[in-house]
Amino acid sequence: MLRKILVTSALPYANGPLHLGHLVEAVQTDVWVRFQRMLGHDCLYVCAEDAHGTPIMIKAQSEGITPEALIARVAEEHRRDYREFLIGHDQFHTTHSPENQEVTNLLYQRVRDGGHITVRSVRQAFDEQAGMFLPDRYIKGECPRCGAAEQYGDSCESCGATYSSTDIKNPLSTITGTPPVWRESEHYFFQLGQFEKTLRDWLQTGARQPQVRAKLEEWFEAGLKDWDISRDAPYFGFEIPDAPGKYFYVWFDAPIGYLGSFRALCKQRGLDFDEYWRPDSTAEVYHFIGKDISYFHNLFWPAVLHGGGMRKPTAVFVHGFLTINGAKMSKSRGTFITARRYLDLLPPEPLRYYLAGKLDSGIDDMDLSLDDFVARVNSDLVGKLVNIASRCAGFIARGGGQLAAALPDPALYHEFAAKRTVIAAHYEAREYSTATREIMALADRANQYVDMHKPWTLAKDPARSAEVLAVCTQGINLFRVLMSYLAPVLPQMACSAAKFLNDPLSRWDAVETPLLASPLGKYEPLAIRLDPKQVAQLIEPAAGIAAVAPTSPAQAAAAPAQAASPRTNKRDAAASAETAGNANIADFTKLDLRVARVIEASLVEGSDKLLQLTLDVGGETRNVFSGIRAAYSPEQLVGRHVLMIYNLEPRKMRFGVSEGMVLCASGDGPELFLLSPDAALPLACASRR
Ligand code: 2FM
Ligand code: ZN
Repeated sequence: MLRKILVTSALPYANGPLHLGHLVEAVQTDVWVRFQRMLGHDCLYVCAEDAHGTPIMIKAQSEGITPEALIARVAEEHRRDYREFLIGHDQFHTTHSPENQEVTNLLYQRVRDGGHITVRSVRQAFDEQAGMFLPDRYIKGECPRCGAAEQYGDSCESCGATYSSTDIKNPLSTITGTPPVWRESEHYFFQLGQFEKTLRDWLQTGARQPQVRAKLEEWFEAGLKDWDISRDAPYFGFEIPDAPGKYFYVWFDAPIGYLGSFRALCKQRGLDFDEYWRPDSTAEVYHFIGKDISYFHNLFWPAVLHGGGMRKPTAVFVHGFLTINGAKMSKSRGTFITARRYLDLLPPEPLRYYLAGKLDSGIDDMDLSLDDFVARVNSDLVGKLVNIASRCAGFIARGGGQLAAALPDPALYHEFAAKRTVIAAHYEAREYSTATREIMALADRANQYVDMHKPWTLAKDPARSAEVLAVCTQGINLFRVLMSYLAPVLPQMACSAAKFLNDPLSRWDAVETPLLASPLGKYEPLAIRLDPKQVAQLIEPAAGIAAVAPTSPAQAAAAPAQAASPRTNKRDAAASAETAGNANIADFTKLDLRVARVIEASLVEGSDKLLQLTLDVGGETRNVFSGIRAAYSPEQLVGRHVLMIYNLEPRKMRFGVSEGMVLCASGDGPELFLLSPDAALPLACASRR
């Protein structure tokens, strides 16, 4: 029976680049979708930019652009990355769209009218200078349990405590560096507890991942709490229709973005939205997500859909995280590999194949070890799969370019073709690692067949040309079966192979019948060996602290912000210091570091990196150009105390003379952190180290 299926991957945030972690999910989803299409099912795949929320608003401000401009730029980059990784979305939309607003309002009105929303007052940190309430992640202070400094407003990285931002000691806003005040405001809550039975029943449907089920049991045990779905202005999002000045929290309209994106697709293709989303729909809906967002997708989301009079997902497929060389991706270790960096160095399919070889239906993390990546791709794709075709193609071309009319070993062929049922079951169950293992075991057998019959030896005897053609026809047919099985993983290679075979390789069951007496196209190499040196370049050399002592302020300020700043990531400070190599203590003591106050800050016309700062250093005024525009807006800086290198030789730049440099640190994320002096210092005075 043909199925109607709608599939989604999680929506990437529109404020940063895609990295290989995103690709794990995109590849997992895309392989599944392509596989379903090969079976002939009607399978649609939608995704979108996750465009709302405070981080996007703040980032746009710091770049001096509108959030709309930011999300448009990032969306373009994301689209290009996905496209080049051969991710075949039917629709890649944005949550900041009229379609999404329409569905968001509709679901909200329905859950409100159904009595599932309650309003109550919440006490929250408010940054008076920025004029906004602060999400927990924008508050830092001392852990109420262990006293560790510099902890976020919701949890302590040092002792693992989780707490409310009202409990944190000596809190400071990370936006302006000022202490927040506490203010009350009305918030809208979705009463998740009202859906407990519905959710428990829903979780009994379909095959659920055991670890996910266990986690959900824990959450039920802990009790389902009301979910705060509103945020106060200023906020980049959709205003709540009956609550002026209140906005939907980004996580409310993000999953609705799946529907918004699908609605846009329906408009384009004349599809029936309700056929997929009405409560009794027989279409299947699957969400592929990472394990960090399971609560949103397995509890809030089905409850909102149910309360909003729509069908719930058929299943949510949860996967684990990607580690690189055995460790979490890290910017300071250079292992935060963006999709773009990968694509600048390597073709997409080796990674698709490698990830498929690691993916299964579980939620354990998977590792990309670069050595293993090279070995696996070169051995499997080049050494086994392509080898079958490349060894046979030449003989057929020389023998007239046409396959023989019969197979010399039909039983072997049918054994290969019969494997399609079990391999299909592995794909269907997202056990891609097992599927690829099965396929490679067949590739070994195909190579053994060719090795055993040695067409290169037979070809020496002109009388045996029919045998050569027969053996190579068998080899090419075995290759065709394997390439078909791998087509969901390697769509580009399958497309090139299809041209060579003159056969579309687009239907799963087509392998039932061998390809006989048909002409072959020109054979072009289908895959190239990975060069370990090239692959090693995926990891960027770790940045050192040498940037503290740039050779000139102009050079440092003109460089991208990240490069112009010292990396003082907590975990890797020691490693960074070791790798810097070119600064010793004598160099360091040459620097005259002083506390300065920012009196004025402005954008620099003609530069998208620089801010112009006027600094007060103990009564003296200095003009400094600093490459921190991506992280700070001028308004955020005025009044702040910073650390500066006081004795850098003034340097003439295109925009004016820079008379020093302010110090920044960067962490694992794209952020930059201006270094601030300890607030206990008498800040008015300039101080030497
Ligand atoms: O965690 C994230 O990256 C979110 N942007 C995922 C959203 S998925 C869906 F709910 F929109
Ligand atoms: Zn602590």
